[in-house]
Amino acid sequence: MKRKLTFILATLLLGACIGAKASPVEDRNDLITYYKQIFPDIKFEDYIYGTLSMNTSAKSQYDDIMAFPPYAIDLDKGQKVWESPFKNGKQFSSCFPDGGKNVAGIYPYYDKATARVVTFENAINACLRANGEQDLSYGESEMGLLTAYARSLSDGMKINVRVEGVDALAAYEKGKAYYYTRRGQLNFSCASCHVNNAGKFLRGDQLSMMIGQASHWPEFLAGTDIVTLQKRFMQCNRNTREIPLKANSEEYNDLEYFLTYMSNGLPMQSPVYRK
Ligand code: HEC
Repeated sequence: MKRKLTFILATLLLGACIGAKASPVEDRNDLITYYKQIFPDIKFEDYIYGTLSMNTSAKSQYDDIMAFPPYAIDLDKGQKVWESPFKNGKQFSSCFPDGGKNVAGIYPYYDKATARVVTFENAINACLRANGEQDLSYGESEMGLLTAYARSLSDGMKINVRVEGVDALAAYEKGKAYYYTRRGQLNFSCASCHVNNAGKFLRGDQLSMMIGQASHWPEFLAGTDIVTLQKRFMQCNRNTREIPLKANSEEYNDLEYFLTYMSNGLPMQSPVYRK
């Protein structure tokens, strides 16, 4: 039975999750405890499935689809880009340890030298520049296909985002503030839906929990284009009738940093199919 989404302010429970002075470790532990209370039957490692973890029949349909993923051809296209030599003869694999295997789970990280959060897409572009090539735009489907393949090389890697040092912590805190700040005409924060109302239904969609949200990108959506994590941020901004920010903006990168930290310890699943 679909329950109607009732925006009860779960402020008491939530208060435990967003103590302003809490460390990242405490933030994450508090949130794990909070979700365990709401979803006592869902195993932590199943949080990567988002709402599928709340619905056994949808999950088994998904497993059937993933046995023969409909995006296999697109993944091959991404592999071609990954393996095509640059003008200097080198390939993307030369920019990453172990040829790019099991590396994506440390992204985003905070780079002291540039005082910026570096996403995996930024690292791909840094590789292009280091080899005398032009950046790919976040929005281009080539970037989506390329990262789908490049991240698939880290499939199953446990996410391990580090927040070390004052500046890294400041970027994390900015991302966290973004997640918990109400905005848009509807005056919702990301947390209004994905923390306070996780598991409930909104206009027919069940709402996923924050932990696990960053673990499985990009998504190949049935009937539409490939969706990267930051494209999903834009869609969710629109859900609250707010003008989305630009992909690769500092705000979104900080948000991705915070959000991915919250999925630490979960296995990456890349890419995935969603209806
Ligand atoms: C009005 C409710 C609402 C708000 C506010 C909202 N979202 Fe969502 N979000 C959804 C719905 C509905 C979905 C699709 C169902 C699902 O997976 O939760 C979704 C999906 C997502 C997903 C993909 C989950 C997955 O596993 O595929 C991410 C990531 C996400 N939201 C992040 C955010 C962020 C970051 C914000 C704040 C900028 C935000 N959301 C604000 C409703 C909302």
